[in-house]
Amino acid sequence: MGFLTVVSVLSLLHVAHAEFSAVRRVALGPRVRETAVIPAAEFSVPISAKTPRRSSKKNALAALRGRTPPTKAPPTGGSSTVAVDGSDFDEEYLTNVTIGGQHFSLIIDTGSSDTWVPQKGFNCFDLDENPVPESTCAFGTAGFDKQASKTFKPFPNVSFNITYGDGEFLSGPVGFDTVQIGGFSVSQQEIAVPNLAAWEGDGVNTGLIGLAFPDLTSVYNTTDPTKASGENQLPYSPLFLSGVKQKKVANPFFSIALSRGSFDQQENDPFDPNLGFLSFGGIAPVPVVNTAVTIPIEGYSATTGIPNNGPGSDFFFYTVNVEGYTFPGSNHVVTANNNTILDTGTTLHFVPTPVIEAYAKQFKPPAVLDEDFGLYLVACNATVPPLSVQIGGKSFTIDPRDEILPAGTDDEGNIICITGTQDGGPNVAEDIFILGDTFLHNVVATFNPVAGEVTLTQRAKY
Ligand SMILES: *[C@@H]1O[C@H](CO)[C@@H](O)[C@H](O)[C@H]1NC(C)=O
Ligand SMILES: *[C@@H]1O[C@H](CO)[C@@H](O)[C@H](O)[C@H]1NC(C)=O
Ligand SMILES: *[C@@H]1O[C@H](CO)[C@@H](O)[C@H](O)[C@H]1NC(C)=O
Ligand SMILES: *[C@@H]1O[C@H](CO)[C@@H](O)[C@H](O)[C@H]1NC(C)=O
Ligand SMILES: *[C@@H]1O[C@H](CO)[C@@H](O)[C@H](O)[C@H]1NC(C)=O
Ligand SMILES: *[C@@H]1O[C@H](CO)[C@@H](O)[C@H](O)[C@H]1NC(C)=O
Repeated sequence: MGFLTVVSVLSLLHVAHAEFSAVRRVALGPRVRETAVIPAAEFSVPISAKTPRRSSKKNALAALRGRTPPTKAPPTGGSSTVAVDGSDFDEEYLTNVTIGGQHFSLIIDTGSSDTWVPQKGFNCFDLDENPVPESTCAFGTAGFDKQASKTFKPFPNVSFNITYGDGEFLSGPVGFDTVQIGGFSVSQQEIAVPNLAAWEGDGVNTGLIGLAFPDLTSVYNTTDPTKASGENQLPYSPLFLSGVKQKKVANPFFSIALSRGSFDQQENDPFDPNLGFLSFGGIAPVPVVNTAVTIPIEGYSATTGIPNNGPGSDFFFYTVNVEGYTFPGSNHVVTANNNTILDTGTTLHFVPTPVIEAYAKQFKPPAVLDEDFGLYLVACNATVPPLSVQIGGKSFTIDPRDEILPAGTDDEGNIICITGTQDGGPNVAEDIFILGDTFLHNVVATFNPVAGEVTLTQRAKY
């Protein structure tokens, strides 16, 4: 499933000097305040969703079928990323972006910081590092044509090297160009134009916009991308922060409303336009209710990699403190976790093992862990136990429709479903848990990387 949280930099965690210094929270406890009214955004662009079939999905389908190889012929056009049957169950949220005058549909990712498009003529690899035909990467276009851009400037002697949480990786050259999203236009933005891509595309997206912090960027002072390390990382200002520096927004916020597609859409539609908004300078224009909270983003200790707000901590992700999850029976488990990120690039909601174990039992019939595949499966017509997430003293409810996702079909053609909340690993300080799209469908998330705060506002039911 979509799991675009960047992992390469975190594994190289060290003290890095960002050129854009976000305010560091020095308060020891979480500082929570009532939300000031956030102004309407100056620029909003619609978000569309594509439901790509990533390898993990194909693996899921294979696992669910008892690992029997696919028997049906792929649909026409068949790049290898088109699964043989089954339904779409992943969603990536995309928006139209112009780079150097060229149009791309890019994934919106708050779990990483680099904006990239593959360059024309790139080499495609599978996740096991074997070369495969370019079409296997299934980008939406042939890639970025440096020659055709009047504004592209190369950044010599450096390279890009990134690995995402789902095993996809890219590397190659870096440059600067004008990046435009709706009315938000940033000049001389540092972007990566990789010539090596291991990507499980969907035929629509041609890359990604990274909206997290400078310390999570993946450009290195070496011409050889295999020599990337914490020592030679060259952190830079990601797209939104560059726009803030260039005074392209009145307020240093961007705001995201990701709408849930219907079960039918997730099951049948290859591409859904209008699934929310990405807004710059204010709040995304969707109806909300009164529940809102503004909370500090947690930094990390450079030495231990554990959330820490003391002096010298580094910002990477939009990490927040989850005070607890509430569901029937939740009083019997420790549900708090302070290392949980808001990540638009991750489809599901990943919680500590004890939390999902207790929650799964409350579905009627219960959701069960498929040991082979490591995901909880649930009857598509199960009754969903109510779930809410406590953040900053407020309770944000997750709609039951986000807790049952179509995940493919079995050999008899029955739809198989998984739960929207899944196991993120043991409840230890080092584990990063994820408030992915399952959660984000229910709120407007407004990110202020300059003040180091996030505002969450419960959306009106839709
Ligand atoms: C993006 O652009 C394509 C055509 O280039 C258009 O079909 C699509 O609706 C646009 N999507 C959004 C979300 O504006
Ligand atoms: C890039 O590296 C080459 C060879 O090491 C060197 O000659 C050149 O001056 C460098 N360019 C820049 C802009 O640093
Ligand atoms: C990259 O490293 C070289 C030394 O190897 C140094 O001279 C140069 O200033 C560094 N480049 C940047 C952009 O920091
Ligand atoms: C990225 O850098 C790591 C070392 O940090 C290296 O092992 C890996 O091969 C590099 N990836 C690519 C695609 O160059
Ligand atoms: C997060 O929890 C860990 C223990 O699990 C603790 O060491 C750390 O100080 C906490 N960080 C914050 C910012 O609360
Ligand atoms: C749910 O679906 C199963 C078969 O898929 C069926 O046997 C069962 O009766 C259904 N339950 C309800 C409550 O509709």
